[in-house]
Amino acid sequence: MSKALVAANWKMHKTLRETEEYLRRLLELVGDEPPVELAVCPSFTALALAARLLSGSPIALGAQNGHPKKEGAFTGEVSMYQLADLGVRYVICGHSERRHLFGESDAFVAEKVRAAWIHGLTPILCVGETLEERQGGRAWEVVERQLSSALGDGLLGPLVIAYEPVWAIGTGVPAHPHDAQDMARRIRAWLSERFGGKGAEVRIQYGGSVKPENAREFLGLPEIQGALVGGASLDPESFWRIALAATCGRPSS
Ligand code: PGA
Repeated sequence: MSKALVAANWKMHKTLRETEEYLRRLLELVGDEPPVELAVCPSFTALALAARLLSGSPIALGAQNGHPKKEGAFTGEVSMYQLADLGVRYVICGHSERRHLFGESDAFVAEKVRAAWIHGLTPILCVGETLEERQGGRAWEVVERQLSSALGDGLLGPLVIAYEPVWAIGTGVPAHPHDAQDMARRIRAWLSERFGGKGAEVRIQYGGSVKPENAREFLGLPEIQGALVGGASLDPESFWRIALAATCGRPSS
Protein backbone atom coordinates (compact mmCIF):
# COMPACT_ATOMS: atom_id res chain seq x y z
CA MET A 1 0.00 0.00 0.00
CA SER A 2 1.39 3.42 -0.93
CA LYS A 3 1.51 6.48 1.36
CA ALA A 4 -1.70 7.93 2.75
CA LEU A 5 -3.32 10.52 0.48
CA VAL A 6 -4.58 13.71 2.08
CA ALA A 7 -6.53 15.79 -0.43
CA ALA A 8 -7.86 19.35 -0.18
CA ASN A 9 -11.26 19.95 -1.70
CA TRP A 10 -11.52 23.72 -1.90
CA LYS A 11 -15.06 23.60 -3.32
CA MET A 12 -16.15 27.03 -4.66
CA HIS A 13 -13.45 29.08 -2.94
CA LYS A 14 -10.39 31.18 -3.80
CA THR A 15 -9.43 33.71 -6.42
CA LEU A 16 -6.26 33.42 -8.48
CA ARG A 17 -4.37 35.64 -6.03
CA GLU A 18 -5.52 33.57 -3.06
CA THR A 19 -4.62 30.38 -4.90
CA GLU A 20 -1.11 31.61 -5.53
CA GLU A 21 -0.59 32.75 -1.91
CA TYR A 22 -1.91 29.46 -0.57
CA LEU A 23 0.15 27.22 -2.83
CA ARG A 24 3.37 29.15 -2.28
CA ARG A 25 2.90 28.79 1.49
CA LEU A 26 1.96 25.11 1.26
CA LEU A 27 5.01 24.36 -0.88
CA GLU A 28 7.19 25.97 1.81
CA LEU A 29 5.59 23.87 4.53
CA VAL A 30 5.72 20.61 2.60
CA GLY A 31 9.37 20.66 1.48
CA ASP A 32 10.79 18.20 -1.03
CA GLU A 33 9.85 14.83 0.41
CA PRO A 34 6.71 14.92 2.52
CA PRO A 35 5.96 11.73 4.46
CA VAL A 36 2.42 11.72 3.10
CA GLU A 37 0.98 12.26 -0.37
CA LEU A 38 -0.87 15.54 -0.81
CA ALA A 39 -3.30 16.68 -3.48
CA VAL A 40 -5.05 20.01 -3.91
CA CYS A 41 -8.33 20.29 -5.84
CA PRO A 42 -8.98 23.97 -6.68
CA SER A 43 -11.84 25.44 -8.69
CA PHE A 44 -11.59 25.07 -12.46
CA THR A 45 -10.66 28.75 -12.78
CA ALA A 46 -7.48 28.19 -10.75
CA LEU A 47 -6.44 24.83 -12.21
CA ALA A 48 -4.06 26.15 -14.85
CA LEU A 49 -2.34 28.44 -12.36
CA ALA A 50 -2.11 25.63 -9.81
CA ALA A 51 -0.71 23.28 -12.47
CA ARG A 52 2.07 25.77 -13.13
CA LEU A 53 2.86 26.38 -9.44
CA LEU A 54 2.80 22.70 -8.50
CA SER A 55 4.70 21.42 -11.50
CA GLY A 56 7.75 19.44 -10.35
CA SER A 57 6.60 19.58 -6.72
CA PRO A 58 5.47 16.66 -4.55
CA ILE A 59 1.92 18.08 -4.37
CA ALA A 60 -0.47 16.53 -6.87
CA LEU A 61 -3.12 18.48 -8.71
CA GLY A 62 -6.72 17.34 -8.43
CA ALA A 63 -10.02 18.50 -9.89
CA GLN A 64 -13.37 18.60 -8.12
CA ASN A 65 -15.35 17.19 -11.03
CA GLY A 66 -15.06 16.24 -14.67
CA HIS A 67 -17.42 15.40 -17.51
CA PRO A 68 -17.15 11.91 -18.94
CA LYS A 69 -17.56 12.88 -22.61
CA LYS A 70 -14.29 13.78 -24.28
CA GLU A 71 -15.62 16.93 -25.99
CA GLY A 72 -18.80 18.30 -27.50
CA ALA A 73 -21.84 20.50 -26.90
CA PHE A 74 -21.89 20.45 -23.08
CA THR A 75 -22.03 24.11 -22.13
CA GLY A 76 -20.33 24.88 -18.85
CA GLU A 77 -18.68 21.49 -18.48
CA VAL A 78 -14.99 20.53 -18.39
CA SER A 79 -14.00 17.06 -19.56
CA MET A 80 -11.70 14.48 -18.03
CA TYR A 81 -9.76 14.72 -21.28
CA GLN A 82 -9.22 18.46 -20.75
CA LEU A 83 -8.22 17.88 -17.12
CA ALA A 84 -5.63 15.31 -18.14
CA ASP A 85 -4.27 17.80 -20.67
CA LEU A 86 -3.66 20.27 -17.80
CA GLY A 87 -1.66 17.78 -15.76
CA VAL A 88 -4.44 16.89 -13.32
CA ARG A 89 -3.79 13.59 -11.55
CA TYR A 90 -6.82 13.05 -9.29
CA VAL A 91 -10.47 13.82 -9.95
CA ILE A 92 -13.26 13.73 -7.38
CA CYS A 93 -16.19 11.68 -8.70
CA GLY A 94 -19.61 11.46 -7.06
CA HIS A 95 -19.11 14.00 -4.28
CA SER A 96 -22.32 14.11 -2.25
CA GLU A 97 -22.81 17.80 -3.04
CA ARG A 98 -22.97 16.88 -6.71
CA ARG A 99 -25.15 13.85 -6.09
CA HIS A 100 -27.60 15.76 -3.88
CA LEU A 101 -27.49 19.38 -5.09
CA PHE A 102 -27.10 18.65 -8.79
CA GLY A 103 -28.89 15.33 -9.02
CA GLU A 104 -25.98 13.22 -10.25
CA SER A 105 -27.04 9.60 -10.51
CA ASP A 106 -25.03 6.49 -9.69
CA ALA A 107 -24.94 5.74 -13.43
CA PHE A 108 -23.46 9.15 -14.25
CA VAL A 109 -20.85 8.76 -11.52
CA ALA A 110 -19.93 5.38 -13.03
CA GLU A 111 -19.41 7.06 -16.42
CA LYS A 112 -17.11 9.61 -14.79
CA VAL A 113 -15.02 6.94 -13.09
CA ARG A 114 -14.61 5.07 -16.39
CA ALA A 115 -13.73 8.25 -18.28
CA ALA A 116 -11.18 9.23 -15.63
CA TRP A 117 -9.40 5.92 -16.16
CA ILE A 118 -9.54 6.24 -19.94
CA HIS A 119 -7.71 9.56 -19.71
CA GLY A 120 -5.15 8.37 -17.17
CA LEU A 121 -6.62 10.13 -14.11
CA THR A 122 -7.14 8.56 -10.70
CA PRO A 123 -10.74 8.92 -9.54
CA ILE A 124 -11.43 9.74 -5.90
CA LEU A 125 -14.80 8.04 -5.71
CA CYS A 126 -16.97 9.50 -2.94
CA VAL A 127 -19.51 7.28 -1.24
CA GLY A 128 -21.61 7.85 1.86
CA GLU A 129 -25.05 7.74 3.38
CA THR A 130 -27.41 10.48 4.56
CA LEU A 131 -28.39 10.78 8.22
CA GLU A 132 -31.81 9.33 7.45
CA GLU A 133 -30.23 6.32 5.76
CA ARG A 134 -27.87 5.77 8.69
CA GLN A 135 -30.66 6.07 11.23
CA GLY A 136 -32.70 3.65 9.18
CA GLY A 137 -29.87 1.08 9.38
CA ARG A 138 -29.22 1.36 5.64
CA ALA A 139 -25.75 2.95 5.62
CA TRP A 140 -23.93 -0.06 4.20
CA GLU A 141 -26.70 -0.85 1.73
CA VAL A 142 -26.35 2.66 0.25
CA VAL A 143 -22.56 2.59 0.15
CA GLU A 144 -22.60 -0.87 -1.40
CA ARG A 145 -25.00 0.30 -4.09
CA GLN A 146 -22.75 3.27 -4.88
CA LEU A 147 -19.69 1.02 -5.08
CA SER A 148 -21.38 -1.65 -7.19
CA SER A 149 -22.63 0.90 -9.65
CA ALA A 150 -19.39 2.88 -9.98
CA LEU A 151 -17.15 -0.18 -10.18
CA GLY A 152 -19.52 -2.52 -12.00
CA ASP A 153 -17.15 -2.92 -14.95
CA GLY A 154 -14.20 -3.75 -12.71
CA LEU A 155 -11.22 -1.98 -11.32
CA LEU A 156 -9.76 -0.62 -14.55
CA GLY A 157 -7.13 1.69 -13.07
CA PRO A 158 -5.85 3.19 -9.84
CA LEU A 159 -8.59 4.26 -7.46
CA VAL A 160 -9.10 6.11 -4.19
CA ILE A 161 -12.36 5.80 -2.29
CA ALA A 162 -13.50 8.58 0.04
CA TYR A 163 -16.04 7.47 2.62
CA GLU A 164 -17.91 10.68 3.39
CA PRO A 165 -21.11 10.40 5.40
CA VAL A 166 -23.31 13.17 4.00
CA TRP A 167 -24.36 14.40 7.44
CA ALA A 168 -20.72 14.94 8.46
CA ILE A 169 -19.77 17.15 5.52
CA GLY A 170 -19.37 20.81 6.37
CA THR A 171 -21.31 20.42 9.62
CA GLY A 172 -18.46 20.40 12.12
CA VAL A 173 -19.78 17.04 13.36
CA PRO A 174 -17.58 14.21 12.09
CA ALA A 175 -18.52 10.54 12.13
CA HIS A 176 -17.54 8.58 15.19
CA PRO A 177 -14.10 7.07 14.40
CA HIS A 178 -15.51 3.65 15.26
CA ASP A 179 -18.20 4.02 12.58
CA ALA A 180 -15.69 5.32 10.03
CA GLN A 181 -13.45 2.34 10.73
CA ASP A 182 -16.36 -0.07 10.48
CA MET A 183 -17.41 1.33 7.11
CA ALA A 184 -13.83 1.37 5.79
CA ARG A 185 -13.45 -2.28 6.85
CA ARG A 186 -16.60 -3.23 4.94
CA ILE A 187 -15.45 -1.31 1.88
CA ARG A 188 -12.07 -3.04 2.03
CA ALA A 189 -13.70 -6.47 2.34
CA TRP A 190 -15.98 -5.68 -0.61
CA LEU A 191 -13.01 -4.57 -2.74
CA SER A 192 -10.89 -7.58 -1.82
CA GLU A 193 -13.71 -10.00 -2.54
CA ARG A 194 -14.29 -8.57 -6.00
CA PHE A 195 -10.85 -7.48 -7.08
CA GLY A 196 -8.43 -9.56 -4.98
CA GLY A 197 -4.94 -8.06 -4.64
CA LYS A 198 -5.86 -5.04 -6.78
CA GLY A 199 -8.66 -4.23 -4.34
CA ALA A 200 -6.21 -4.27 -1.46
CA GLU A 201 -4.21 -1.48 -3.16
CA VAL A 202 -7.10 1.00 -3.18
CA ARG A 203 -6.66 3.75 -0.60
CA ILE A 204 -9.72 4.51 1.52
CA GLN A 205 -10.06 8.06 2.82
CA TYR A 206 -12.39 9.44 5.43
CA GLY A 207 -14.03 12.81 4.76
CA GLY A 208 -16.48 14.95 6.70
CA SER A 209 -15.48 17.69 9.19
CA VAL A 210 -11.85 16.60 9.43
CA LYS A 211 -9.84 19.26 11.28
CA PRO A 212 -6.34 19.45 12.74
CA GLU A 213 -7.84 18.71 16.17
CA ASN A 214 -9.50 15.42 15.15
CA ALA A 215 -7.39 14.28 12.19
CA ARG A 216 -5.38 11.75 14.19
CA GLU A 217 -8.53 9.98 15.30
CA PHE A 218 -9.26 9.11 11.67
CA LEU A 219 -5.85 8.97 10.08
CA GLY A 220 -4.56 6.62 12.77
CA LEU A 221 -7.24 4.04 12.01
CA PRO A 222 -5.90 0.83 10.46
CA GLU A 223 -8.33 0.79 7.52
CA ILE A 224 -8.02 4.47 6.64
CA GLN A 225 -5.26 5.70 4.36
CA GLY A 226 -5.98 9.38 4.04
CA ALA A 227 -8.58 12.12 4.20
CA LEU A 228 -10.60 14.32 1.89
CA VAL A 229 -10.76 17.70 3.57
CA GLY A 230 -13.09 20.58 2.74
CA GLY A 231 -13.37 23.58 5.09
CA ALA A 232 -10.20 22.88 7.06
CA SER A 233 -8.14 22.64 3.87
CA LEU A 234 -8.72 26.30 2.97
CA ASP A 235 -5.85 27.41 5.17
CA PRO A 236 -2.44 25.94 4.25
CA GLU A 237 -1.24 25.62 7.87
CA SER A 238 -4.40 23.80 8.88
CA PHE A 239 -4.23 21.47 5.86
CA TRP A 240 -0.58 20.67 6.54
CA ARG A 241 -1.31 19.89 10.20
CA ILE A 242 -3.99 17.45 9.05
CA ALA A 243 -1.59 15.87 6.56
CA LEU A 244 1.01 15.36 9.27
CA ALA A 245 -1.53 13.47 11.37
CA ALA A 246 -1.49 10.79 8.66
CA THR A 247 2.10 9.96 9.50
CA CYS A 248 1.52 8.99 13.12
CA GLY A 249 2.05 5.31 13.68
CA ARG A 250 2.28 4.56 9.96
CA PRO A 251 5.27 3.66 7.84
CA SER A 252 6.16 6.53 5.50
CA SER A 253 6.12 4.50 2.29
P1 PGA B 1 -15.68 19.23 5.07
O1 PGA B 1 -15.92 18.70 3.57
O2 PGA B 1 -14.26 18.83 5.45
O3 PGA B 1 -15.85 20.72 4.98
O4 PGA B 1 -16.68 18.57 5.94
C1 PGA B 1 -15.41 17.46 3.14
C2 PGA B 1 -15.77 17.22 1.71
O5 PGA B 1 -16.83 17.68 1.27
O6 PGA B 1 -15.03 16.56 0.94
